Amino acid sequence: MRNKRTIIISNRLPVRIERRDQELHFIPSEGGLATGLGSVYQQDDNIWVGWPGFVPESEEEKLIIRERLAELNLVPVFLTEEELMGYYEGFSNEVLWPIFHYRLSYAVYNTDNWHIYKQVNQKFADRVQEQDLNEKDEIWVHDYQLMLLPNLIRQRYDRISIGYFQHIPFPPDEVFRSIPWRDELINGLLGADLIAFHTYNDSQHFLNACTHILGLPIHNNCLHVGGRSVFAEVYPMGIDFEKFSQLAHSQAIRTRAQQIREFYMDRKFILCIDRLDYSKGIIERLEAYESLLKEYPEMREKVILYMLVVPSRDTVPQYKMLRDEIDRMVGHINAVYGTNEWIPIAYFYNSFPIEELSALYVAADVCLVTSIRDGMNLVCKEYVASKEETDGVLVLSELAGASKELLEAIQVNPNSIDQIREGLKAALDMPPSEQRRRMKDSIDIVRKFNVRHWVKIFFNRLREIKTFQKQEM
Ligand code: UDP
Ligand code: G6P
Repeated sequence: MRNKRTIIISNRLPVRIERRDQELHFIPSEGGLATGLGSVYQQDDNIWVGWPGFVPESEEEKLIIRERLAELNLVPVFLTEEELMGYYEGFSNEVLWPIFHYRLSYAVYNTDNWHIYKQVNQKFADRVQEQDLNEKDEIWVHDYQLMLLPNLIRQRYDRISIGYFQHIPFPPDEVFRSIPWRDELINGLLGADLIAFHTYNDSQHFLNACTHILGLPIHNNCLHVGGRSVFAEVYPMGIDFEKFSQLAHSQAIRTRAQQIREFYMDRKFILCIDRLDYSKGIIERLEAYESLLKEYPEMREKVILYMLVVPSRDTVPQYKMLRDEIDRMVGHINAVYGTNEWIPIAYFYNSFPIEELSALYVAADVCLVTSIRDGMNLVCKEYVASKEETDGVLVLSELAGASKELLEAIQVNPNSIDQIREGLKAALDMPPSEQRRRMKDSIDIVRKFNVRHWVKIFFNRLREIKTFQKQEM
């Protein structure tokens, strides 16, 4: 009998495939999840199942991709354009994403998309089953695109270990109730043994939904489902601290950071890095920056807002509209306040390699995170991990999961333009000694609760739960 295996499943695989000059290029992802789980799926016979972010043109191309990915322990789930529209854009990003980020008015309920979401979750389950599982294997399902998957796997494997991690918030049960298919979504998750979130509030909201919507009895954080104990718990995700710390210490990155600072004439450098998303509070941040320039005219020409927005989901109408609004506001602020010597905002709609991100973190006097809702927010942790040698201040939305850990950041309510402006002003004026004291505390936390620690405690707990379930039988 073969050894126990771990199977990671997420919508996206940790590689990106691109077709350039008629050739396929496989680009490993730098993302936190990919790094954190690298030590798991790259070992032994473990695998990662997911969508390769690419629609092949032919069966032959699928075969090539399958073979190349197999060398990396990756198993692709190919999705058609129609499936992507219904499952990814339509249901995941026009129902679950807005509702889970408390944006009820952005949700578009469409029964056909719900059916395609179910169909694609089933497709993932079929692909997992083809991997010749046995009851000793451990499955870890990630995020809201695959909420039905834990139960689809459970129906086929009664005793197998299944963990689920939700990377985005879970809203209060009355908000979640808006979704017509909420019962099926909860039942989907309950196929797991351990259902985990970034924050205590998210886990409580989920438990409330189980009792208030499905009428399930709960005992502390434990639910009883078909004779099985299921636990909802909190595991805040960390980052690869060592990677960001080492990059920040390297001579090449320090030289690049110096170049960036010189290019912007050593002005106070405020950094914002986000995917294009209405949950990130990009409009509110621009309003606050304009308000800073208005209320404190002495700051003009002394600061620069460096804003990197990474293209994302641009086929979803709300994202297109947001992009237009950002373009308009950046143009307005630069036109009204700019001078021959100074452009207030350096705006990039692009994605940068990790080395350039690292140089930006090292260069920045302030990192400004204004999420209106964010499951965790890894950017602010990456900034902290890059600040062992250089000063800097983090201004952080209290509505991002990371605010529960980074208590020494200047925390602001992102719905208040005044609070963002004053937080920014306090950061710009903060004496170096206070910057160092606050940053040291944050660094200690980000170093200790890093991504490897997160993976380790999650699996330890999943194993403990399985042992507990066996004793119950
Ligand atoms: N990121 C990246 N390339 C870029 C900009 C950002 O790979 O050009 C990464 C960044 O380093 C971080 C992730 O994207 O790890 C964003 O994660 P976060 O939790 O902040 O937000 P999310 O996009 O998951 O909502
Ligand atoms: C968030 C979600 C992830 C998602 C990522 C990028 O971090 O929690 O599940 O993969 O955004 O979004 P995308 O739609 O491009 O996969």
